[in-house]
Amino acid sequence: MSAADEHERSLTARGTPVAFAADIWDHHASWWRETFAEGADLEYAQEVMPLIAASLTGAQRILDVGCGEGQVARLLHRSPHHPQVTGIDPSGNQLENARRNSPAEINFVQGAGEHLPFPDGAFDAVVCCLAIEHCADVDAVLAEVARVLDVGGRFLLLINHPLYQGAGSGFIDDQILGEHYWRVGPYLRETVSFEEVDQGVSLPFAHRPLSRYLNPLASYDLLLVEMHEPPPLADFLAGSIDPELEGAIPRLLALHFEHRPRPRH
Ligand SMILES: C[S@@+](CC[C@H](N)C(=O)[O-])C[C@H]1O[C@@H](n2cnc3c(N)ncnc32)[C@H](O)[C@@H]1O
Repeated sequence: MSAADEHERSLTARGTPVAFAADIWDHHASWWRETFAEGADLEYAQEVMPLIAASLTGAQRILDVGCGEGQVARLLHRSPHHPQVTGIDPSGNQLENARRNSPAEINFVQGAGEHLPFPDGAFDAVVCCLAIEHCADVDAVLAEVARVLDVGGRFLLLINHPLYQGAGSGFIDDQILGEHYWRVGPYLRETVSFEEVDQGVSLPFAHRPLSRYLNPLASYDLLLVEMHEPPPLADFLAGSIDPELEGAIPRLLALHFEHRPRPRH
């Protein structure tokens, strides 16, 4: 049975896809906090967090979709403009850590990106950081983000780069032919696959082609204003046998949109 079949089977066994995701993240909440939060992960500390801070500066009402244990929400809360920050996540254990480690002014809500419990136009910025790959219904999440975003508002979407980091993609050291290359997996095929990201930690990742994000957002008048593809950090290349090649393959993609409604005739 393939990992995707296994995932489907688990969904049926455990209830809705959102409940299934919440179960998994409840289970791994301590691991996530220890491995990725508050400076534990170099990529977050040196690339992800500075990029978010720079992109959302000045926003006053910010929503963090899939906030996890709250590190992005805390970063935004610390900004000199003193924004009102709200985080939403389906995992009770992630939220428990978030509330324990964050200032009381940050509002943490249990829920899913697919059903945001906020009025239309309630935020002038939304961020979704490395969480959309874990959301079951991408169309519902993007529709909800567009709905709660005010006119002129910003949406920052950070994902594992779908062109180079999807299932089946990766560095190949072909010792028979004596060459190295970066293999791209079946890019157009939407899949959910479990990846063992750490010892004993297996997480489902949805791979979707880029058009699955860009086209719905364009239909909601979310205009792409900036795109970031930061090169991998030197630390990731330390053990590489071809750092020049691997250094030219991005891990992360950050897309910055603005809600600019077009006149409709
Ligand atoms: C990789 S963690 C990222 C956490 C946080 N954004 C950060 O960067 O530190 C992914 C998060 O997505 C959340 N998640 C899973 N399904 C979701 C859904 N349908 N809606 C919103 N968040 C979801 C998980 O509970 C988990 O906390």
